[in-house]
Amino acid sequence: MNDQSLTSAQRAERLQGMGCKRKRVEDIRFVQGKGSYVDDLKLPGMLYGDFNRSPHAHARIKKLDTAKAKAVPGVLAVLTAADLKPLNLHYMPTLAGDVAAVLAEEKVLYQNQEVAFVIANDRYVAADAADLVEVEYEGLPIIVDPFKAMAANAPLLREDIKDKTDGAHGQRKHYNHIFNWQLGDKDATDAAFRKADVTIKELISYQRVHPSPLETCQCVASFDKIKGELTVWGTFQAPHVIRTVASLISKIPEHKIHVIAPDIGGGFGNKVGAYPGYICAIVASIVTGRPVKWVEDRIENLSTTAFARDYHMTAEIAATRDGKVTGLRVHTIADHGAFDACADPSKWPAGFFNIVTGSYDFPTAHVSVDGVYSNKAPGGVAYRCSFRVTEAAYCIERAMDIMAQKLGMDPADLRMKNLIRREQFPYTSALGWEYDSGDYHVALQKAMDTVGYAKLRAEQKAKQDAFRRGETRELMGVGVAFFTEIVGAGPSRNCDILGIAMFDSAEIRIHPTGSVIARLGTKSQGQGHETTYAQIIATELGLVADNITVEEGNTDTAPYGLGTYGSRSTPVSGAATAVAARKIKAKAQMIAAHLLEVHDDDLEWDVDRFRVKGNPERFKTMTELAWAAYNSVPPGMEPGLEAVSYYDPPNMTYPFGAYICVVDVDVDTGVTKVRRFYALDDCGTRINPMIIEGQIHGGLTEAFGIAMGQEIHYDDDGNVTTASFMDYFLPTAVETPKWETDWTTTPSPHHPIGAKGVGESPNVGGVPCFANAVNDAFKFLGSTHIAMPHDHWRTWAVAERLGLHQ
Ligand code: CDP
Repeated sequence: MNDQSLTSAQRAERLQGMGCKRKRVEDIRFVQGKGSYVDDLKLPGMLYGDFNRSPHAHARIKKLDTAKAKAVPGVLAVLTAADLKPLNLHYMPTLAGDVAAVLAEEKVLYQNQEVAFVIANDRYVAADAADLVEVEYEGLPIIVDPFKAMAANAPLLREDIKDKTDGAHGQRKHYNHIFNWQLGDKDATDAAFRKADVTIKELISYQRVHPSPLETCQCVASFDKIKGELTVWGTFQAPHVIRTVASLISKIPEHKIHVIAPDIGGGFGNKVGAYPGYICAIVASIVTGRPVKWVEDRIENLSTTAFARDYHMTAEIAATRDGKVTGLRVHTIADHGAFDACADPSKWPAGFFNIVTGSYDFPTAHVSVDGVYSNKAPGGVAYRCSFRVTEAAYCIERAMDIMAQKLGMDPADLRMKNLIRREQFPYTSALGWEYDSGDYHVALQKAMDTVGYAKLRAEQKAKQDAFRRGETRELMGVGVAFFTEIVGAGPSRNCDILGIAMFDSAEIRIHPTGSVIARLGTKSQGQGHETTYAQIIATELGLVADNITVEEGNTDTAPYGLGTYGSRSTPVSGAATAVAARKIKAKAQMIAAHLLEVHDDDLEWDVDRFRVKGNPERFKTMTELAWAAYNSVPPGMEPGLEAVSYYDPPNMTYPFGAYICVVDVDVDTGVTKVRRFYALDDCGTRINPMIIEGQIHGGLTEAFGIAMGQEIHYDDDGNVTTASFMDYFLPTAVETPKWETDWTTTPSPHHPIGAKGVGESPNVGGVPCFANAVNDAFKFLGSTHIAMPHDHWRTWAVAERLGLHQ
């Protein structure tokens, strides 16, 4: 154990700590099909629930008859709003301070809304019986276009709140209005626009998309009538919050509710909120006294649980003639669907959208967001994004390109001219954020040098000339995007969920033999937490990562935490892990001093041990100290070696990146080939470079999906036309481009290990980069802004509009 033959460097390598490309420990079970997911759970006597759903987007329920469904052999009960109403459970609170119907009472507000819940002893019987629930509807006028929601004669959607003049975020201007949120200096911004040499204005819409994780949302609820205890296994990104909400709604004491999130097959924001399926399964279990399983199918997942985006941003930039930005103005219409079920910190109705000044030094800015109701599914989740940051990045990165075009400048040059400079950090933006650290110019220059930017532009120019001469039918686009994320929600002074501060936690316990169990308040959905938290502990405590077990997702054992979304795990729980480890290390140092009979100040840390300063032969390893903690602690010290940390971050972390994409567009077919995609990311201290690369690959693939094809589309009658993978684009390995990844490292000054989050960066930076590339291909022909998604058909239509198909 006291391996004298190894150098410090060899001992450090043996730990597999921070900076090491440690293989993912969870993959041992995942690649063998041995993961344990909610739908794997089989309990004795388990029942199955399924929904009858509305075929209409807006209709009054004239009659609801469950007799035929109840008569099906194997059906135990059918729940409707009439059953839930006496329990006050027909509506549930949302994270955004609104309520959402659990089962539709008098009318339905979007297609596939839940109307009745059938409980049967077999999944297929439940599904067949759900079809036999008889509902008579009377159709009502439908709002699909959010710009029409607040028209004077617009149909009234939410009859339950029609007379409420105040919502959770202030006054409502109209019965279909949810909130208006404003930030920045309006007068100074207006003045900047009056004085500007050049201005641009563009409606930049980010279409409705869906996180579409491989595993849909699901749960098993089991109520024990004897003990009065409820256990819920579910696909929960935030298990503790689900427990608290379940307790508040059901009035079951919180300590009698056990929430367990087993392995989760992808979340991406889809599994943050609470859904009618959870409430109905819990009620059904209480009513029947038996466990009840609810598992969404793909159509239900895509059409009812948690969409993302649907932001329609009118962006204006003011600038001097030589390309210095002087002001930014953005007004957004945010389509929230039938209920405001956005998953944002409570005080942020538009999330962190005010990061819309991006990576640039805007002297002044003003942003305003109006949330509206429509006949679409509720949601508004952070799909691999930190609360509307993706929308903001898309908005500013498109707008900067449009400004560059108007100024006749290269988009990279305009960015270089306006990026926040290294010496300006910590930098306070015009919209109030304090960016912690960055070295933006170095990052963009490195990206440009690596891809050979000047050469690409020369090639593009030659191709444009050839196109004009009729020698080619292909256009080349070079997309540049520079983004700053804001992750690690968040400081308790301004971030809470339903009144619970957004801290997170880690509890580390060292066993006598030096092996470790660490439990955290976050919950991995595939990000590799079991691997990486162990690496932080390994480095901090000098214990081998393979001897450290990381556990998440069981509210009975894990300390209270706010969960995993918005790339907050590393910024918040990663910090908690380091802080808890340091508490343990401080105690271990006192034990070492006692054993070595020196003052603790006379000891120094050396990778995996405390040694006596000036006498390195005298040391105690952490493994030895773990043993000693259980039998030879100094007089007056409690035995044991464990610690817990609840970490309230002092600030967010601000990862950033420079992305460049090259596309070739065939104008006759619209087929757009991604020739090259280069992504440079800076997430501060890198815990596991291999996992980071995996996160970037995954996020870029999602960004590719969104930019090049994804849309949850509704027709004028409110029918979802993209509710299956036949119609909703999910890229496979066949379509996905090859990714080139790179990095710089600018540690966060306030994070204990200098790490920033990374999981969402590629989605945030990737989408505008693809969009800029496609737009760039067409702009020499006079096109300013082409809306996403850039699928082949739409791109063909753009060429048609531009008269390229003679
Ligand atoms: O909250 P979430 O896990 O989705 O996002 P994250 O904090 O960005 O972490 C995603 C994965 O990347 C985790 O396994 C992290 O430990 C890892 N990561 C890393 O190795 N180094 C960083 N600086 C940030 C994240």
